[in-house]
Amino acid sequence: MAFPSDRPRRLRRTPALRRLVAETRLHPADFILPVFVREGLSEPAPISSMPGVVQHTEASLLDAAEEARGLGLGGIMLFGIPAQRDPQGSAGLEPEGILNRSIRAVKHRVGDELPVMADLCLDEFTDHGHCGVLDSSGAVDNDATLEIYAQMAVVQAESGADVVAPSGMMDGQVAVIRQALDEAGHQDIPILAYAAKYASAYYGPFREAVDSQLQGDRRQYQMDAPNRTEALREVELDLAEGADMVMVKPAAAYLDILGDVAEVSDVPVSAYQVSGEYAMIEAAAANGWVDRQAVVMESLMAIRRAGATSVLTYYAAEAARWLR
Ligand code: PBG
Repeated sequence: MAFPSDRPRRLRRTPALRRLVAETRLHPADFILPVFVREGLSEPAPISSMPGVVQHTEASLLDAAEEARGLGLGGIMLFGIPAQRDPQGSAGLEPEGILNRSIRAVKHRVGDELPVMADLCLDEFTDHGHCGVLDSSGAVDNDATLEIYAQMAVVQAESGADVVAPSGMMDGQVAVIRQALDEAGHQDIPILAYAAKYASAYYGPFREAVDSQLQGDRRQYQMDAPNRTEALREVELDLAEGADMVMVKPAAAYLDILGDVAEVSDVPVSAYQVSGEYAMIEAAAANGWVDRQAVVMESLMAIRRAGATSVLTYYAAEAARWLR
């Protein structure tokens, strides 16, 4: 019988050998923790479709930020849930609104040791739940929304955000935000652009997380699942408009897109392991069908291996603790 001349198994014999030849590693600084803070809440409120994740009070948010800082996470991404919503999403523009005052409080607590990022979008603030303002036909008005995003970016930067992250998928959003920030003297505040963001059923639990009142869907502005080349076009546009980092979202079901984007992008690439990805792992683990920690780490490794420099994940703090 002929013995194999090539034996890849040689380098798999012991954990130490496998560690030696690992092509991808996970580090706490790779992870960005998304957090929800809800106005007027007296106790942290569990999100039933995301076991272990809560809507924070303004006080518990600071504890989460402090923990994230201590763990050496890459950053924290704030989502605000206001007490009052209106068609214009005005609460997103108020310097004393829940998101902006939370940015200020978190920044005050963690200083420069943890990058404070803010979701720049209207859906948490509008009563109809869309990512922009509506025109008379009920469609999201791209250009009217851009004017609001530009103001939001400046207010967030003035509140102390280290990074603004436009997630609304309006055409031209990066350019108007860059211009507004520059004109207001915030030329040093980077933009993390949700560049290839798909209209996805994996955002389901997020709707509960932000008490969304959305009727219908976001298919007129977020990308359509069948499209791959179009993601590169979105990324090219955002890079040309001045994006400092680009994001692919969701992660697991779009690893091909992530791989493509990582190949062409000359700026760091992020991927968002979204609420539905979290919920699916939690549900399977709760039933004893998968090994929770192993699956979480494997899912994060897959996202990094596909090309993400950083991963937005609800597992950020827990994964960082496991890595210690
Ligand atoms: C929009 C936004 C959404 C998510 C992040 N930013 C919701 C959406 O686009 O419908 C989803 C994140 C998740 O599902 O974890 N502000």
